[in-house]
Amino acid sequence: MKDNGNTPHTTPPPQVLWGGRLEEKPEAEAFAFQASINVDRRLARDDIAGSRAHVIMLGQRGIIPAETAAALDRELARIAGELEAGTLTVDPGAEDIHSFIEGLLTDRLGDAGRMVHAGRSRNDQVAVDLRLYLKRTVPELVGELTGTIRALLDRAEEQAAAVMPGYTHLQRAQPVTAGHHLTAWGTALERDRSRFFDALTRLDECPLGAGALAGSGLPLDREATAKALGFARPTLNAMDSVADRDFALELSAACAITMIHLSRFCEDVVIWASEEFKFINLAESWSTGSSIMPQKKNPDFAELIRGKAGRTTGNLVTLLTLLKGLPYAYDKDLQEDKESLFDSLDTVRVCLRMFRGMMETLVFNRERMEAACIGGFLEATDAAEYLVRRGLPFRKAHETAALLVRDCIQGGQRSIVERSLPELKARSKLFEADVYQALSPASCVAARKLPGGPAPGEVQRQIGVLRKKLENPDHDGSSGNRA
Ligand code: ARG
Repeated sequence: MKDNGNTPHTTPPPQVLWGGRLEEKPEAEAFAFQASINVDRRLARDDIAGSRAHVIMLGQRGIIPAETAAALDRELARIAGELEAGTLTVDPGAEDIHSFIEGLLTDRLGDAGRMVHAGRSRNDQVAVDLRLYLKRTVPELVGELTGTIRALLDRAEEQAAAVMPGYTHLQRAQPVTAGHHLTAWGTALERDRSRFFDALTRLDECPLGAGALAGSGLPLDREATAKALGFARPTLNAMDSVADRDFALELSAACAITMIHLSRFCEDVVIWASEEFKFINLAESWSTGSSIMPQKKNPDFAELIRGKAGRTTGNLVTLLTLLKGLPYAYDKDLQEDKESLFDSLDTVRVCLRMFRGMMETLVFNRERMEAACIGGFLEATDAAEYLVRRGLPFRKAHETAALLVRDCIQGGQRSIVERSLPELKARSKLFEADVYQALSPASCVAARKLPGGPAPGEVQRQIGVLRKKLENPDHDGSSGNRA
């Protein structure tokens, strides 16, 4: 269950960073409602990294004493270590991760701790934390994406000659191969991968020093903190730095698009696994049974991934709606950005892993797939093209092939090649004995060797192109490293 950060706490509100101005503090429930610790606790590492860069710069600039800066840096490193080791846990009663870390520094170092926030606001702090978090975790997600594309391409290579019906309107259309179909999926996911890279490249600017919205009068060194944190550069405009979340939107959209792709692939898997199609057999370990119907083997994993595309679509709409009409610069509404974004990133990650496992283990039923190429007149387009190659205008060839299909339906034949040569010639004198060979499903596929086509050699070439693109590193978090 998701924790919206509004779980009532019975303990009184903890120390806050804004205690000076307000004599009366919100009641416990109200305090918990506006707190964000349950969501932003996952930014702890990033908040500490940002603070370390900040205090070091404050020391270098003489804004705080050098020894204070060193002490703060040491303590921040210690806190990071303790959190990592589990000897320190984030206080769920804190207002947010920024207050928690600053509170610890003050508790441990006294006045030195009170110096850390000079020239900084939680508004630029949270913007830095979120970008750092994304720079370190999105490449991991992209790694899952890369692994999943590779798994699809491996299967595509193996099934490059496995003839199956291609569909339009979910009606049998033309023979293709399982390799062609899987490569189509890989091509789409490779574009998703580049969408994540694009977003990472654009978000690679450091908001630190933007303050609440208007920068700082202190002589901060924004270049230095940006560099220390591994950003390409500082952000250009302080107000934009704290007000916008378009980088979160882009990533949320990349997640939503990836999930929409997976939902379509999973729909194909569900259809293929049905008794009616039986093109594939899902591994038992990637299926589930029924509590009442003893015979059932259900494609639950595919269905659940398909279903989870709803969450990521919803999360994108949440974020768009959150930002729509929001006055500049920072508004507390922006606190709601993280939960939906984190949920989308988590969802895509686990779905990619599950989809990959399912795809790696399913077995293609090549006989069923090939048999399904007969009976739906999938060769009709090739029959028309046979005639075009012999000089007939396409529209006439199309009509001739259509008449042949009608002849077959009337004569009870399941394929054009089940008619005799004289019967074919009665429709067009251009038909010769070689038509029988030309219209077999494998020949139809082999003939489509144009770039993009399903011919086995051409699909191998497409796979090679995609594999080459995947050789680009999964983004090192710095700019200028696009796929
Ligand atoms: N928890 C806040 C957020 O996620 C941090 C910034 C708070 N700033 C403020 N002015 N209340 O956006």
